[in-house]
Amino acid sequence: MNPETMTVALGDRSYDIFFGREIYSLFQEWICRFYPGGTVHVVTDRNVASIYGDDIQRWLAGIPHDVLALPPGEEHKNFDTVREIYGFLARGDAGRDSLVVAFGGGVVGDLAGFAAATYLRGISCIQVPTTLLSQVDSSVGGKTGFNLPEGKNLVGAFHQPRAVFIDDAFLLTLDDRNLRAGMAEVVKCALAGDAELWDRLLAVGGKWKALSGEEWRWVVRRAVGFKASVVERDERETSLRRILNLGHTIGHAMEKSGGYGRLLHGEAVAMGLAWEAILGMKLGVTGEELVDGLVSLLIGMGFPLDDPGVALTSIAAAIGMDKKRMVSDVDLPLVAAPGRCELRRVPLAEIRRELPGIRAEIRERSIARELNIPAGNAVPEESPVSNLVHVGDEVYEIRPVEENVAPAVPAEAGPEIGKEQATAVEPESEQAPSEIRAAPAVRTVTLADLYWSQGEHSTARRIVGEILRDDPANLRAQAWLAARAGDDLVEADLLAFLETMAKEYGYDLS
Ligand SMILES: NC(=O)c1ccc[n+]([C@@H]2O[C@H](COP(=O)([O-])OP(=O)(O)OC[C@H]3O[C@@H](n4cnc5c(N)ncnc54)[C@H](O)[C@@H]3O)[C@@H](O)[C@H]2O)c1
Ligand SMILES: [Zn+2]
Repeated sequence: MNPETMTVALGDRSYDIFFGREIYSLFQEWICRFYPGGTVHVVTDRNVASIYGDDIQRWLAGIPHDVLALPPGEEHKNFDTVREIYGFLARGDAGRDSLVVAFGGGVVGDLAGFAAATYLRGISCIQVPTTLLSQVDSSVGGKTGFNLPEGKNLVGAFHQPRAVFIDDAFLLTLDDRNLRAGMAEVVKCALAGDAELWDRLLAVGGKWKALSGEEWRWVVRRAVGFKASVVERDERETSLRRILNLGHTIGHAMEKSGGYGRLLHGEAVAMGLAWEAILGMKLGVTGEELVDGLVSLLIGMGFPLDDPGVALTSIAAAIGMDKKRMVSDVDLPLVAAPGRCELRRVPLAEIRRELPGIRAEIRERSIARELNIPAGNAVPEESPVSNLVHVGDEVYEIRPVEENVAPAVPAEAGPEIGKEQATAVEPESEQAPSEIRAAPAVRTVTLADLYWSQGEHSTARRIVGEILRDDPANLRAQAWLAARAGDDLVEADLLAFLETMAKEYGYDLS
């Protein structure tokens, strides 16, 4: 095999990234060559072990090694798990000449990398990333760490791997949701630093899942290439590396305020990319055409661009919480053109002020895309969208009884929020008096899918019901309902839902 190689040039911490199918034959050879006498300690998680456990044994046959399969998931990215790895290394008699193999997604990579960084004051580690996110992002760059109850990634260390082995065949067993989440980081890399990758993504659009092996390798290599070039120029994130935070200022806030575990990191980043692009437009940095392209691309890929369950006040409060310290302004990466990003120091108060307007724009653009009309005319006067809902033979018309009232304005948010929100026209559920009134929420069938997949069936049904309320002819929503007709969604449910909606939101159901 003749894999492609990329070098991350960091002086005596330089290392190679290998790309190719059947990468195992290479890491076998690599280990024998560079760690002939040392022990090899593979850290993975139980999901990965259940798929690749036998392969790992086969690939490392003849090399003294042991394997630790951790409980999977972000909720286990904590100190207890790090201690488990320390115990595993101690029992396996790991020494300074030993090698830790981080074999799994970003959680395994961060935990095993951190344990390697700190055990015996640092032993070697290689990364074999098995999720798209870990291939294009976390396995390269040397950031390792774990979460505390007080916040994500609060403890960590920089510890560059000795090598990274990337095989796109691992993606074949990854579920769609995690695959899609990784795509958000690919889009980020394209926007921040690779115009050619951006063009390719636009050309592929919603058909990204059908990429061939060779196309996947190209996409992954370009994204990794961008990350590696940034890491080379700013290993410790003192300045330039912050452009990798594109989409993450608002994305992290979304992820945190929705409650960790509700959205995958990449899903929150997709929202952050779209929201920050609109912010960039408002600040005069990002062009309208780029925003259109991005929103379209992300929706086409199946990302919801808003989490209607999250109040703007929570997002506003979470923005700028930098490792638990509240800062007053951030170096915000904004996209000036595809592949070109600028760092702008922006006061947090300004970002917060813009949130209601951004949410409203996101909503309008999402609807415009669903209806295939230019943004700005999302719901024109003569819109074909009606508020008639068909249930069996009956037809119901739903109209708002009263308009919104201007919301109370939170002290931290500044007066403009109240001003902007007073123009919102769609009633929302009860909110705490101090909350910023959210702009009308986005509802898409994709969002309903997301909730459904998380077991939140009633929310999913509610969203589809609301879509049909606004657009009874929506074919995707109808198909969604039809697909679940024999499930736990029956017309009676829809009727009950409509009545609840009528009561809850003050609609007149006639
Ligand atoms: N260090 C960094 O620079 C950096 C950058 C970005 C993200 N991260 C971290 O990465 C983590 C997220 O990583 P992730 O998205 O890879 O999540 P993950 O490691 O939790 O993996 C996602 C899920 O996929 C499973 N899985 C992994 N590989 C698989 C495969 N090939 N087939 C089937 N299932 C597979 C895992 O068991 C897990 O259930 C977060 O903790 C985040 O903080 C770190
Ligand atoms: Zn990220």
